[in-house]
Amino acid sequence: MTIDDTHVSRRGPPAVAGADTSEFSAGPRNSWEMVDEGWGRRAADFASLSEPGNCREYVAVHHRLGVGTGDLLVDVACGSGLAIELARARGAVCAGIDASQRLVAVARDRNPHADIRVGDMAALPWDDETFDVATSFRGIWGTTPEAVDEIHRVLLPGGRVGLTVWGHIKKSPGAWALAPFRMAAPARVENQAAMVSLGRPGVGEDLLARRGFVDIERVDVPFVWEFADPETFARTLASTGPAYEAIQNVGEAAFNEAAIELARARVRDGLPLRAEIAVVGYLARNRTRPERRLDERDGLPERT
Ligand SMILES: C[S@@+](CC[C@H](N)C(=O)[O-])C[C@H]1O[C@@H](n2cnc3c(N)ncnc32)[C@H](O)[C@@H]1O
Repeated sequence: MTIDDTHVSRRGPPAVAGADTSEFSAGPRNSWEMVDEGWGRRAADFASLSEPGNCREYVAVHHRLGVGTGDLLVDVACGSGLAIELARARGAVCAGIDASQRLVAVARDRNPHADIRVGDMAALPWDDETFDVATSFRGIWGTTPEAVDEIHRVLLPGGRVGLTVWGHIKKSPGAWALAPFRMAAPARVENQAAMVSLGRPGVGEDLLARRGFVDIERVDVPFVWEFADPETFARTLASTGPAYEAIQNVGEAAFNEAAIELARARVRDGLPLRAEIAVVGYLARNRTRPERRLDERDGLPERT
């Protein structure tokens, strides 16, 4: 097996129904197709304009988790697969899953030998105790706790997990860059707030502890988006799922116009537009299997 020539075991075909839990997704009654409609409709823009802006986050979390040769890693809600590519560059053998088939097509293009599935993070298509490391970069939210159970299930005992979520957005210098998402319908904006609740102090720690994780650590994760100009900012933002919700509400032209106007006020001579946003990382370990007593091993009868 070459370093990423893996097709890790599966417990069945990927489950695809009910994949309605994306960041700022359109809510519980939405179908699987709606996730791809929002996140996948501009897959090439997302992959080449938006995802590279997250590189600091990926590098920092991989570093903190000590990702390297010998690790079998799964990235949950992997988007267009840049984090997987960077984990492979550190020597890990990788798998990934995302609800958007068009983002998965890019992820596979970037990582041709990795095991990347289209599916629902609430029903991961891998066996129990498969992976050494699981990551999810702003893919799991307060509204999707079942994905944490699934990560717990597919991680080996003692396996490492790193999840990121938005931190205190309003206090972030780059909060302006997320403001256009609030042009979505009020119910969608409320859902956004419920999702980001996982970033509040204590909330993620509690969720992970209740799901059987130990050695839980909350860390600040570096995160900066940069854009060449206001037009590029608007185009980049429009490629994301939450922008789709805003565009559905106000129309593409109004969304672009508002985003460009917002960014114009931030232009700095000779420098890129810069949006530094608070991102919280939760690092933890799966509980190790309790030590079996010596006389339980190898089927030896218990001594009296
Ligand atoms: C904020 S993006 C993060 C993508 C990627 N991790 C990154 O760093 O750019 C959220 C991702 O979650 C995916 N997603 C939403 N609901 C999902 C589900 N139920 N199962 C798997 N992926 C899902 C979306 O398609 C999208 O790629």
